[in-house]
Amino acid sequence: MPPISDQDRERVHKAINNQKRPTVTVLSSLLAVQDELRYIPDEAIEQVATLMDTTINDVFGVASFYPNFRFTPPGNHTVELCWGPTCHLEGSSYIIEKVLDELGLEGQGETEDNEISFKFNTCLGACSRAPLMSIDHHMIGNLTPESAVERIRSLRHQD
Ligand code: FES
Repeated sequence: MPPISDQDRERVHKAINNQKRPTVTVLSSLLAVQDELRYIPDEAIEQVATLMDTTINDVFGVASFYPNFRFTPPGNHTVELCWGPTCHLEGSSYIIEKVLDELGLEGQGETEDNEISFKFNTCLGACSRAPLMSIDHHMIGNLTPESAVERIRSLRHQD
């Protein structure tokens, strides 16, 4: 990854050094960085290793163990599409196909312009409104393939 900006370096420094927890650990430090930047840049791994007086390998070992940590910057918007059992029965596979086409993706990941991060979810917790997706944590239920694509298009035009 390219180096982070001076501003982001400072944000990482503050995030790991201003933790308000009784016990600061490698994990709490990584969580603080991800909360701040929404991902863990290489330099954060180094800073956490220095703070915790441990090695870069040890910090990376902890970070890579947890699937919720990401190591590349996320898109400006996050779209999660549920493919859990209820949504599946309500036709989510057709929606997934159309949404992936619209995003130009073959699976989870970021669009080429890094505008949208796309993820699957096994249950967004609102099965009564299936099929469902969330955009930047706002739930949108009773989707059709057309309405899902429409939502994504309007998301791109709102920036
Ligand atoms: S299975 Fe999709 S919201 Fe629960």
